[in-house]
Amino acid sequence: MSETPVRITVDGVEIAAAAGQLLIDACEQAGTYIPRFCYHPRMRPVGMCRMCLVDVDTGRGPALAPSCMLEVRDGMVVETASDAARKAQDGVLEFLLVNHPLDCPVCDKGGECPLQDQTMAYGPGESRFVEEKRHFDKPLAISELVYLDRERCILCDRCTRFADEVAGEPLIGFQGRGYHTEVNTFPDRPFDSYFSGNTVQICPVGALTARPYRFRARPWDLTETTSTYPNATGDRVSVHASRNRLLRIQGVDSEAVNHGWLADRDRFSFEAVHSPERLTEPLLRKDAELSPAPWSAALAAAGDALQAALGRGGPSSVAVLGGARLCSEDQYAWAKLAKGVIGTDNVDAQLGDGLPAELVCALPRATIAAACRPGGTVLTLAGDLREEFGSLFLRLRTAVGSGDVALVEMAPLAGSLTALARHSLRVRPGDADMIAEAILDPPHGAAIAGIATDELRAAAALFADGPLTVLVGRTSVAESATTTAHAALRLARAFPHARFLPLLRRGAAAGAIDAGLVPGLLPGRTTRQGAGAWYGAAWGGVPEHPGADAAGILVAAAAGRIDVLVLLGADPLADFPDRELARRALERVGTVIAVDVFGTASVGCADVVLPAVTFGERSGTHVNIEGRATAVTRQVTPPVQCRRDWEIAAELALLLGSDLRIASPTDAWTELTDLSPLHAGASWDGVRADLDGLLLPVAGDGNGTGGGNGTSGAPPGMVTLEDVRLPGAPVVPFDRYSYRLVADRSLYDRGTVVANCPSLASFARPARLRLNPRDFERLGCRPDDLLRVTSPAGAVSVAASADDRVPPAVAALAVNSGGADPGELIDIDAAVCEVRVEPPIP
Ligand code: SF4
Ligand code: SF4
Ligand code: FES
Repeated sequence: MSETPVRITVDGVEIAAAAGQLLIDACEQAGTYIPRFCYHPRMRPVGMCRMCLVDVDTGRGPALAPSCMLEVRDGMVVETASDAARKAQDGVLEFLLVNHPLDCPVCDKGGECPLQDQTMAYGPGESRFVEEKRHFDKPLAISELVYLDRERCILCDRCTRFADEVAGEPLIGFQGRGYHTEVNTFPDRPFDSYFSGNTVQICPVGALTARPYRFRARPWDLTETTSTYPNATGDRVSVHASRNRLLRIQGVDSEAVNHGWLADRDRFSFEAVHSPERLTEPLLRKDAELSPAPWSAALAAAGDALQAALGRGGPSSVAVLGGARLCSEDQYAWAKLAKGVIGTDNVDAQLGDGLPAELVCALPRATIAAACRPGGTVLTLAGDLREEFGSLFLRLRTAVGSGDVALVEMAPLAGSLTALARHSLRVRPGDADMIAEAILDPPHGAAIAGIATDELRAAAALFADGPLTVLVGRTSVAESATTTAHAALRLARAFPHARFLPLLRRGAAAGAIDAGLVPGLLPGRTTRQGAGAWYGAAWGGVPEHPGADAAGILVAAAAGRIDVLVLLGADPLADFPDRELARRALERVGTVIAVDVFGTASVGCADVVLPAVTFGERSGTHVNIEGRATAVTRQVTPPVQCRRDWEIAAELALLLGSDLRIASPTDAWTELTDLSPLHAGASWDGVRADLDGLLLPVAGDGNGTGGGNGTSGAPPGMVTLEDVRLPGAPVVPFDRYSYRLVADRSLYDRGTVVANCPSLASFARPARLRLNPRDFERLGCRPDDLLRVTSPAGAVSVAASADDRVPPAVAALAVNSGGADPGELIDIDAAVCEVRVEPPIP
């Protein structure tokens, strides 16, 4: 779109509009709303419904034109309410209502229905239609989440465009012609999309409804608040509740974040909030059993255990794991308790499935919008975005699909964006850094590790030319993070213009790092060495010794060196990659204190269980992978005995003889913004003033590169690339008889949230070893044959399937999918997980 504005006249008033802007948008921006059904600002206009007809004079006399299909031109004169326009609107509505059922009293859309509203505002006063209306069987369950009522459909093409254009899954479309045209799915393919809820949200009538919400409430019964969904991208949402129950989550169109889109897993996960499986009272272990106890007794037991540990083994005998599901205020309170009061640096919000925190802080940070901006290149050094980062996948898919952004992917498995990628570099587990090096300096010969050197050269040329965004995450938890970290560091040094988005999938893990809930760092992406004195003065002390990350904590625990382990919404028995290490650690720890929402496997090993509040029940701030701070808003009252995580930290501090001086989320955020160079300037109200929130750092160099904070009086010591020290990454020599394991993610796993949502729980698929079809055949497998998979760490038996997205000599097994657990095969110290796959068990 050109920058030069044009002047147009709308209903007698001259306005400025951007050249190339659609007339419907220009009018809306100037305060004149034009009715519409098919137009959606995030999809290509199609001019299907004709509801947006206006009288337009471009110099050749007025004529009716659809304003959603017309770009503004200088001197254009527009009448949105002329007699001709009114008559056209009236006529369109009369035609739409010819076959529309009189369902309003029983229709979920009633009360928030554009067809109702626009009929009242622009339509005929009464119907002239007395004939029998068209009838279809209704409703049709076109998936387990979505119901279709074809009688109500106005054929606006929104759902079909979303499925095709945005999600890339044309599973719903138009069938028949003329009078018989209907929207429907294909007989042999249900609407099993990860994103189907978006079609329900954008359907302008009640033709598509979501099963979890059907007949649950009327819009006028709902209270509504704008909040942030606690996922890695921090999707902006509108949360709807009635009678203290969450009933619906809808995406909100944030330009910076999610464009209004949500993955179904996030959209429907509110069901977990009201699960009967919630922890609703404190528990204490007595006679080997966990039994209900009053808060005072549970806190006293936790406080006594901490005091005893400090007396016996000192601060380093205490460790805190988790915190990625919390708001920044909770994370800060726990960082202050652990590091300032207890004095331990054994704190990690990641569970061995993320990236080194120093690297995350030091890499120059990108934004989602910048990654999707036309003209750039995106390198994904990550797993399948569709499985883990729904709204980011949709945005990137749209940008890449339209040809505006060039995509290069480096991953062991082909994924949902492979077909759109300019270059797909199929990297075996453990080889990422070697391939990154080869991109910078292509070796002689036709190929390296199966990748053509021409491809490497072409990728390097793209990286050097124009904006480059690297999405860096974990392709597999069966592979050491160090390899990926080395590759990212190498690229950052070779391409100083590159910006990075750290794909930390665990909720607010990026915010936890920024709040100091990781070893070696203090709030604001500062180092213990650089900012220790600053925080020491403010907190009354900081850890004397560097602490361990999640793996180090569990190794120390297994060796009997951790007396008290606090699990802050963490379930290492399910989520830490090395299952055997997690088991040994939890067995040896003296006291496990679990602060959680559900009774997970790890909570079952705890000695003290403190029930916490969750999404929808708390207010605070969420910081996403861009470093964007947005508001989280409470919508319902939590179960009476559940407490905020910051409250629990403050209570424990008092029992240890210290006052955190935090009595509300606002207190915690204000202290964080006072102390942290990163958060300085991001006031509580400032974060809430804009739908897009505030990008940290508000002050400073604008991209979070560290090395200076731009705030007077703030401490030095923000992490820079020079501070990043990574251990060497040993590469296992190629063994032609072995497979390298990829432990990847799927959107619907057997994790706590999905398991506690009745609408989603059935989507979790049992574990399946995916092999390249050639390997599958070579092993003499047939579908569903049970294979024995062995690694130096353990063995599992699992059903196998052939999958052409898996390259030869690689075996893929999803994490947390129930049944065979890749965690049984993984040794956290190994660079890669080599496995033997034995032919079918007879
Ligand atoms: Fe009424 Fe709207 Fe439902 Fe049609 S879609 S039945 S107009 S509420
Ligand atoms: Fe439009 Fe809804 Fe019909 Fe889809 S189902 S074409 S969104 S009215
Ligand atoms: Fe313009 Fe439908 S909104 S034709």
